[in-house]
Amino acid sequence: MTDPTTADVLVVGSGIAGCSAALAAAREGADVLVVTKAERPDGASTDWAQGGIATTRGDPESFTEDILAASADTADADAVDVLVENAPAAVSDVLVDTLGVEFDTSGAGYDFAREAGHSTSRILHVDASTGEHLLRPFLHYLDERDGIRIREDTAALDLITHEGRVHGALLDSEPGGEPAFAGATVLATGGIGACYRRSTNPPGATGDGLAMAALAGADVADMEYVQFHPTAYAGREAQSEGTGSDGTFLVSEAVRGEGAHLRNGDGERFMPDYHEDAELAPRDVVARAVDAERTETGEVVLDVSPLDFAGEFPDLAEKCEERGVDWTDGIPVAPCEHFLCGGIDVDDRGRTSLDRLFAVGECARTGVHGANRLASTSLLEGLVWGLRAGEAAVGNEIIESEPPELLDSDPDLPERFADEKFTRLRRVMEEQVGIRRTPDGLRRASAVLRRLKGEVDAYVRTRTARDLYELRNASVTALLVARAAAENEESVGCHYLEPPDATAPVDD
Ligand code: SIN
Repeated sequence: MTDPTTADVLVVGSGIAGCSAALAAAREGADVLVVTKAERPDGASTDWAQGGIATTRGDPESFTEDILAASADTADADAVDVLVENAPAAVSDVLVDTLGVEFDTSGAGYDFAREAGHSTSRILHVDASTGEHLLRPFLHYLDERDGIRIREDTAALDLITHEGRVHGALLDSEPGGEPAFAGATVLATGGIGACYRRSTNPPGATGDGLAMAALAGADVADMEYVQFHPTAYAGREAQSEGTGSDGTFLVSEAVRGEGAHLRNGDGERFMPDYHEDAELAPRDVVARAVDAERTETGEVVLDVSPLDFAGEFPDLAEKCEERGVDWTDGIPVAPCEHFLCGGIDVDDRGRTSLDRLFAVGECARTGVHGANRLASTSLLEGLVWGLRAGEAAVGNEIIESEPPELLDSDPDLPERFADEKFTRLRRVMEEQVGIRRTPDGLRRASAVLRRLKGEVDAYVRTRTARDLYELRNASVTALLVARAAAENEESVGCHYLEPPDATAPVDD
């Protein structure tokens, strides 16, 4: 093991939440170390974000109401207030004034877009690739800023803890691990897309922060609320195993916001039968409707003929063309894993239940989303909570306690082992812990995942490799999701239990 690295604040992850935490901590004069397993910006989910970043547009009340309504009134009203009150200042200070992001304009002002669940147009965007237009300048800015070091291709494997306090993390940059001690540690590791067969997340979304925090004893909450996006491209090449890289791509809700319709295999527009807001109903409602219509009629396509698709969404039109999709015939779509509404339980400054451990972005559960997230609030949540946590994380002494021991890394980890376990895990999650669930299926999924986690744990005790830790993290996370879903008997938001089969025999 090499000499330890130290920092006032250690940030794990390099999406908008991690970058915001790093910026805020550095502004407070802290020495900040950002570690990220990504080697390029597109390793972070932020870079993949399409729709945009919602803001108040002078009407905080209606924004608050829309967030609460989309969550079926399960969001934490205080957390929503924090988000909404801080939105305008955070967007203008960081994104506009500091980074110089040029959001699309229309006439004299911004071209605010509308997405499902929003009662008005309030979403700032850059084409339908807003994430990369925020994140790349952000990383560039942090690279140049004094007081911040960014180490890419560096994964955090485990938290270093002592008596309930977190002292940093063990990094995978050296054989046997490299301890990074910090006054405070901020987890910003993103989502859990790798736990599902199809996801809009990058492949590295293996629930790392969540698993590390849970294994260290931090509280997690709302894990059953996994959001499925209704319109991910569902062409033939998008059906294969894996996440992100297989041809699946998101067709932003902004396309429906501009007037696109969903049609089933019989060519019928069906959303008006499901909800009064039709294609702009909350995301969970649209996702289940698309799923049902696909089952009944074979396919669902997004009919973009009501709008100038190539003119308004050139990036998406290009993606279709790359895959040989003639979008004038409609784009085949299906729901696909998109976002975890729950996560590591945090307060309004991103503090977890463990001393000196913070969590921000998708890996955190702030309470803003409740059981279902309103479109284009995730970048905003990452920005607002990132800034607040970064500030709050400053001012703690760096303590070099005993790091956990790791075995020397094993470059010969049988790929087959990880592949086989991941395939099993994804199958169980997709089939039993997906968009429609049953109590029985959830119980069985929990049992299978518990066994699988046991097999992975046994392997982790004998070897060290990043892939293996990712598999461990995914198996811990998947089990947390399945267990939380099995324990929640109420269908709400993203957690949907099939009604009991009326024809099934009833026990005496
Ligand atoms: C989208 O562009 O449809 C995704 C926006 C979001 O997930 O909030």
